[in-house]
Amino acid sequence: MDKFIIKGQQKLAGQIKVSGAKNSALKIIAATILLNDPVTISNVPDLMDVRTMKKVLEKLGASVEYSPKNSTMKIDPSTINSYRAPYELVKTMRASFQVMGPLLARFGNAEISLPGGCNFGPRPVDYHLKAFEQMGAKITTEHGYICAKVDKLIGNHIYFDFPSVGATENVIMAASLTDGVTIIENAAKEPEVVDLATFLKLCGAKIEGEGTSRIRIEGVKKLHARDFTVLSDRIEAGTFILASLATNSSLEIIGAPVFALEVFLEKLKDCGHDFEIHQNSLIVKPSKNPKAIKFTAQPHPGFPTDLQAPMAAYLSTVEGTSLITEGVYENRFVYISELNRMGASIELDGNKAYITGQDFLSGAPVMASDLRAGAALVIAALGAKGTTEINRVYHIDRGYDGLVAKLSAVGAQIERVVG
Ligand code: UD1
Repeated sequence: MDKFIIKGQQKLAGQIKVSGAKNSALKIIAATILLNDPVTISNVPDLMDVRTMKKVLEKLGASVEYSPKNSTMKIDPSTINSYRAPYELVKTMRASFQVMGPLLARFGNAEISLPGGCNFGPRPVDYHLKAFEQMGAKITTEHGYICAKVDKLIGNHIYFDFPSVGATENVIMAASLTDGVTIIENAAKEPEVVDLATFLKLCGAKIEGEGTSRIRIEGVKKLHARDFTVLSDRIEAGTFILASLATNSSLEIIGAPVFALEVFLEKLKDCGHDFEIHQNSLIVKPSKNPKAIKFTAQPHPGFPTDLQAPMAAYLSTVEGTSLITEGVYENRFVYISELNRMGASIELDGNKAYITGQDFLSGAPVMASDLRAGAALVIAALGAKGTTEINRVYHIDRGYDGLVAKLSAVGAQIERVVG
């Protein structure tokens, strides 16, 4: 298995470019199932998860050409002739479950293996299934597959107990090509949900209220393929900002979607840092004496749960005691033991982590347990004294496009050892 070797405390300088958003690209690729004609998606990041979603579409019968060099993906969904997303693919990536909505809407049939994904506690799909049942689908579980069937979906009034990103997106996709009006209450407001809605609207869908907690979708008979450029990745941008701060450096983050990072930047300002915002970039201005902060990871527009672990890694060496409350997932602190092995002092109490800032962390052999836990270890290693060996970096490859090359280019001493 590949690993990263990082020699910490190197100053970073220069410009680092943000790729397209993983969590937007994956759903937009899934949404092309709703179309009948070829379409080109641009700014598609080169990630394991994107390659997995490409394979899912190919398994369904679509023809897909991906050029990582140009970040473009050409998809011809007109040849789709299967409704089954197999275990080998869905087990590695939960987002493959997002093909259920489009398959049901277009073909009235979908068989999807129960999903896998990041290893941090239970992540059910009950909201997705309940919504599809409310829209008329009959759902059964057979041999590890969820099978959904319907003659024709019908719009309905859907309420989510929690603003689930995936369930909101799955229903938006299905409802776009469904008779009648669908209303989603307590919908997710994430920028990636808005990006998906923007793509579908460009293709002729009638969607209102995306970005708010009430989304109204009036189904249309047909959608028309329109080329689209994916939004930049706010989580990757946030990770680069933390890499800059952990090394007390002033990086310029090109393409940072500042509008989607408001609370994250606000919290870093509470630490004492500053940011110079330009039209297409953000320059990090680190404070010499940053202070501890408190925050709660919440659905958008709250602090993003995907930046919770990288932020904890950064706060490990910030003076005072910081407090993080996790409000989205039951168990998203599995990385703490690894940070503590590097000298961090983090105590867990239920869904709260108390971080007492240390003078420094020290390099150690560590293991990534999931994607964002892996990003946290990279942040910790960049700021630590000595050398850190990060194992199981396949988790990091799921969500960071060319991380080693991008960080090396701004002065980090990071290398991938192929194993
Ligand atoms: C997406 C993101 C992920 C991010 C998360 C929250 C993708 C590919 N992934 O994941 O990076 O961390 O949003 O911002 O876009 N839940 C249920 N039942 C369901 C669905 C969700 O109980 O049917 C719960 C989950 O267990 C979790 C919470 O709702 O506790 C939020 O999950 P959700 O917003 O659906 O996350 P994903 O779409 O899987």
